[in-house]
Amino acid sequence: MTTTMKLHGRRAGLPAIAFSCAALAALSLPASSQEDRGLPQLIPQPAMGAPLPGLSAAELDRFVKGKAEFTHILTEAEGLGPIMNDTGCGQCHSQPRAGGFSNRSVTRFGKAAVGLDPFDPLDDLGGSLLQVTSIDPACQEFVPPEATVTAERITPHVLGAGLVEAIVSADIEDLANNPPHINVAGITHMVTPLEGGAVRAGRFGWKAQVGTVLTFSADAGLNEMGLTNRLVGTENAPNGDLVLLAACDTVADPEDGPDLEGFDRIDRMTDFQRFLAPPGQTPRSGMTGEALFNQVHCNACHVASFTTGVVAEAILSNKVVKPYSDFLLHDVLGDGIVQGPGTETKIKTAPLWGLLARAGTSLFHDGRVTGNTAEQNLHDAIMAHDGEATFSQGDYANLTPIEQDQLIAFLLSLGRSEFDIEGNLTIDEIDWFLFWLNGDFTGPVASFGPDDEAAIGDIDEDGDMDLVDFAYMQRNFTGVLLGD
Ligand code: HEC
Ligand code: HEC
Repeated sequence: MTTTMKLHGRRAGLPAIAFSCAALAALSLPASSQEDRGLPQLIPQPAMGAPLPGLSAAELDRFVKGKAEFTHILTEAEGLGPIMNDTGCGQCHSQPRAGGFSNRSVTRFGKAAVGLDPFDPLDDLGGSLLQVTSIDPACQEFVPPEATVTAERITPHVLGAGLVEAIVSADIEDLANNPPHINVAGITHMVTPLEGGAVRAGRFGWKAQVGTVLTFSADAGLNEMGLTNRLVGTENAPNGDLVLLAACDTVADPEDGPDLEGFDRIDRMTDFQRFLAPPGQTPRSGMTGEALFNQVHCNACHVASFTTGVVAEAILSNKVVKPYSDFLLHDVLGDGIVQGPGTETKIKTAPLWGLLARAGTSLFHDGRVTGNTAEQNLHDAIMAHDGEATFSQGDYANLTPIEQDQLIAFLLSLGRSEFDIEGNLTIDEIDWFLFWLNGDFTGPVASFGPDDEAAIGDIDEDGDMDLVDFAYMQRNFTGVLLGD
């Protein structure tokens, strides 16, 4: 497949260049002159892994301490194991930095339905989630011979998790009750948070099996790391064997507990995820590819935006959030595992925000679409949509190659920060150089639209790349990864 995106091609043969920040400063407007000229104070979209802009000092402090806990390597003395998948949240949620996605997968197993016998998650044998490692080889779990189905699930990012949590349950339920297209029939996965509170539409996990960030943190604390806590207080027995558990479990439960400021580990992890900024989207609106995305009904499931409700934190309340998901379960591919209404054939509509960071590696719940360029992987993923999405896949297949490229260029705007012309999640000298090399700098002459790659640098969306945009770029420019 050809593509109209030429970002990577342009990169080839670039000389090694190192512009200093001082040189950039000399070429750009000082911040004060933008304000003097009454220009709008735009807030650049943060890089992946950065906190929400505008956090109070107290919230930022909680974010920083939460990040330390999220990336902390748990020790056996602190409660790691006896069986687990890894030693810390940040071991899997790592790309491009803490809070992100990765290709690390976890394994689910169970006994497939036979005749009138429904799917059996083999709870008594340690299912349905396998723990692949142990602090003691004697307690090592394995997929039991009774299992007739296994499935891999890769790690999604948790960026913007506080905003997703703040989406009003009724808004998700409404999409199930009044489907936006006659061919789709998404269903909600209603769940009760472990910490209490009303039953609500689940939205986290590939089966939408969890409704709040704290519940996920408590659940993952136990099931991924073996950290018993105030919400889930009992260890997983290796393949269900309580004798083995007694032999390998050395720390009294619950292992989690308050730090000097009264926060449990699961509270700290929750703070980090809640205050993480959502992935950026550049250009913010107007691409032809998004109109095509809607025209072929991708938005029947990948719903662009919600407005959050009122929650404890003002920074998360009444905010427009753009996940490109309805958080409902659909028959598209399935994984053979049952979790409540998340039956064998159902998976949650994958939120598309942040796709730029993921598309070049692997797509779908099990990462089955992989091995090509980001553009080709995206094309292949769309063409692999089955079941309920077949009608939309067919409409996409009927687009012209140029239109398909435009739609894919839009998908690659999801996760892009302004000025990241390379699309490699950093804003550095190369991006700056490319704007010049490509002739994107126009001065104050409007000459391009949202589909043009120059729009990646047009932060004030006025159709030109001028000194105002460069001043904003200078503010964002660090020469190192933003968010580090
Ligand atoms: C071994 C790798 C691994 C570790 C360690 C891990 N996760 Fe995950 N995480 C995953 C996978 C895989 C999924 C998808 C699981 C599913 O849907 O069944 C996931 C999903 C999530 C989600 C849901 C995201 C969404 O939008 O769907 C949250 C939230 C989350 N993890 C938080 C955590 C926290 C907090 C920790 C640490 C206590 C943690 N994870 C540790 C691999 C991991
Ligand atoms: C009927 C609902 C539905 C429709 C319509 C639909 N999708 Fe999806 N989409 C899903 C579901 C469900 C998944 C997750 C499937 C899985 O991982 O097993 C998904 C996954 C994806 C992914 C992979 C994302 C990732 O992070 O792995 C992409 C890309 C995508 N869809 C794009 C599109 C585009 C483009 C269209 C329109 C041509 C479209 N989808 C139409 C439901 C839908």
